[in-house]
Amino acid sequence: MSRVLNFSPGPAALPDAVLERIRNDIPDWQGSGMSVMEVSHRGKDFMAVAEKAEADFRTLLGINDDYSVLFLQGGATLQFAMTVLNLAQPSDTADYVQTGSWSKKAIAEASRFCNVNVAASSADSSHTHIPDAATWQLTKDAAFLHYTPNETIGGVEFHFIPKTGSVPLVADMSSTILSRPLEVNRFGLIYAGAQKNIGPAGITIVIIRKDLLEPRRDNVPTLLTYKAFAESGSMTNTPPTFAWYVAGLVFEHTLALGGLDAMGKINARKARKLYAAIDDSDFYSNPVAQDARSWMNVPFVLAEPSLDADFLSRADAAGLANLKGHRSVGGMRASMYNAMPESGVDTLIEFMREFERSRA
Ligand SMILES: Cc1ncc(COP(=O)(O)O)c(C=O)c1O
Repeated sequence: MSRVLNFSPGPAALPDAVLERIRNDIPDWQGSGMSVMEVSHRGKDFMAVAEKAEADFRTLLGINDDYSVLFLQGGATLQFAMTVLNLAQPSDTADYVQTGSWSKKAIAEASRFCNVNVAASSADSSHTHIPDAATWQLTKDAAFLHYTPNETIGGVEFHFIPKTGSVPLVADMSSTILSRPLEVNRFGLIYAGAQKNIGPAGITIVIIRKDLLEPRRDNVPTLLTYKAFAESGSMTNTPPTFAWYVAGLVFEHTLALGGLDAMGKINARKARKLYAAIDDSDFYSNPVAQDARSWMNVPFVLAEPSLDADFLSRADAAGLANLKGHRSVGGMRASMYNAMPESGVDTLIEFMREFERSRA
């Protein structure tokens, strides 16, 4: 297998071992003479895959029976609406913390379905810090508080879990879930699109506290109702079976590597090394406040933006792919999810030093 080091923000790299397993499984899955994509989702073989994926996911995150785990479609973007349709009445107010592009999108969508209070915003620093929690303007009796623990585009991450008392905490964990251990029982609802640390695009995981399952308004379409999916084992309609199967393989692989304690240690080291390399150089810089830097997505710019194209084409030639920054930010972005090995980050740092030397 010839593989590049893929720093894509998502859909992102999958572990080589998982890809090999898929390749071997595809033509004749478990001796069935069919691939997993060609069997009934309600057959006992696929049901076993679905149940094991959920069990392994629960083990990874230590999720207890107070929570349902749902496997949905529509991406994290659909969750911007689905959370509100289920957790808030139209006349309710939901609090949102705005820390970048994804939380802004969540706010815009929520505003269509209930009152939204932006409790805090980092717009004043172009979203390069996390507003001090002591300054947040929270609504008494808010339906929930929503935040984006990791802003994939800006590379800004919360390194604390907000305290909300009895108000349910809702988090878009698309680009940080499974990167380290998590206290799930601090949350009312967590959602995450799959295409970073979970598996291929097409499946979205929701972890929801069971007392929040009942929709708080009438006429929510069945496929937008958490309760329907909780009651049907996420088989309210035909689920994305292939993505679910691959997610299961990723969970099995992550457990075999030592689970989230092990991933957290590796991811912390990867981030520390890359930020140190950036900070040690006058040629590269990262705009994010030290205490809000993302472990998963590291944006950086060159001192001389006219060199961007050369940096990217040389990186490509060296087998370092997808380092271009988001179009709204420019520069570079290295996304280093679980499937990016520490040695891949070492190679990137070596490449960056060499590029800087060649341009000095
Ligand atoms: C933090 C975050 N939220 C939401 C989304 C949107 O996800 P999707 O395209 O799966 O709807 C993304 C996509 O990258 C993301 O990074």
